[in-house]
Amino acid sequence: MLMSEKYHIVTYGCQMNVHESEKIAGILRRMHYEESATIEDADIIVFNTCCIRENAENHAFGNIGALKKLKKQNPNLLIAVGGCMTQEKGKTETLKKKFPFIDIMFGALNFEELETLINRKKRQKKKVVEIRDEAGEIVETIEPYRTSYPNAWVNITYGCDNFCSYCIVPYVRGRERSRKPERILAEVKMLVEQGYKEITLLGQNVNSYGKDGTTGMNFAQLLDAVASIEGKFRVRFMTSHPKDFTEEVVAVMEKHPKICRLVHLPVQSGSNRILQLMNRRYTREKYLDEIKALKTRLPEAEVTTDIIVGFPTETEEDYLQTEALVKEVDFASAFTFVYSPRQGTKAATMEGQIPEEVQKDRIMRLVELVNALTRKKSERYVGKEVEILCEDYDEKKGTYLGRDEFGRMGYFHSDTNRVGEFVTLKITKANGISLFGEPTENAAKS
Ligand code: 5AD
Ligand code: SF4
Repeated sequence: MLMSEKYHIVTYGCQMNVHESEKIAGILRRMHYEESATIEDADIIVFNTCCIRENAENHAFGNIGALKKLKKQNPNLLIAVGGCMTQEKGKTETLKKKFPFIDIMFGALNFEELETLINRKKRQKKKVVEIRDEAGEIVETIEPYRTSYPNAWVNITYGCDNFCSYCIVPYVRGRERSRKPERILAEVKMLVEQGYKEITLLGQNVNSYGKDGTTGMNFAQLLDAVASIEGKFRVRFMTSHPKDFTEEVVAVMEKHPKICRLVHLPVQSGSNRILQLMNRRYTREKYLDEIKALKTRLPEAEVTTDIIVGFPTETEEDYLQTEALVKEVDFASAFTFVYSPRQGTKAATMEGQIPEEVQKDRIMRLVELVNALTRKKSERYVGKEVEILCEDYDEKKGTYLGRDEFGRMGYFHSDTNRVGEFVTLKITKANGISLFGEPTENAAKS
């Protein structure tokens, strides 16, 4: 019997990349590759890279470099590198020089061609490099191989037109494109029928869905249509840009309890001067007004955010405005980043780059503040009942785990497999951002 060849995918970066890797797995399985248990057993290793910050790149460089040994042991091993990093100007040349053993390079804008590129490589000795500068039509023929049941991600837009001055995404992911609503709705319906319990609509800026005039509906209308699909499942969406977040969206959330009362609304900075330099196109006052409008309609709603510290020219005063905003909003949680200059972006050439030790000091203070807020929030859960969607079993801890609608992790013991079920927990303990609880007797069977 002929043994199937095996694949291993290494993913860096955001949820968007994780889902893209599910599509890459879909392409490889269509070619009859099987998933490899370990990287050493693989016949093809695919790197789906990220370039949003320098450390993401360094991480990938380190891991690719480590493959030299494997390649020597097994000359038939194929190594393919794709994703955001290869889209960067001049990056494929650097990769070629540093890692001559890479067989295939493809971009984030043409990963759909991977099958053709692999077949081409199998016919020729020379490495295959195929990067496109512009995105083509949205490809709808790839069946993702999903590995995150009961959660499923669904793209609604690709690319970004915002050009925030620090961000490389618009350069590597191309212009914003929206998927047709009928495609999105059909995909969500199918996923719900298959038993998925949480659908996350994905885009760099979901609120600008349909702004290209090709969909006949805006984001609020799309969200309404998705949440109107029958069945018990949750709907999430990310990421929202504060300049485009509308009350119409909040009204749709109010109409549908299945839309999680959690909005990921990256603020980036609490200083108007920095926000302007970042080209964010909103002020701290507008941001706070949006939160107020959200919480007036939905008092239970929570907000998570992204924050960058150490942006060029950021003063201690600017930083303290970020701290003050974090306290005022009382975020459920926040992703915090040190500014990382990205070649080709406007901010990378700005005067007043901030010394590393100042950046480090600010990020440490901010992380401490955010953790304290999150901890305090978690403690308020003790004694309360919380519905979580059970996602997995943690072998090490010997507990099942899931998330509530606000993304908080809940752990519990069970003798039966509860993955994919909504379970109501009575919370007995809070530890940082994690909750521990006991399933109540009438745990909702789904
Ligand atoms: N440096 C640091 N953080 C960045 N982000 C985007 N670009 C950079 C950069 N150059 C952060 C932003 C964004 C999140 C996905 O990554 O906060 O919201
Ligand atoms: Fe980058 Fe701004 Fe687009 Fe987000 S909205 S991907 S931060 S340019």
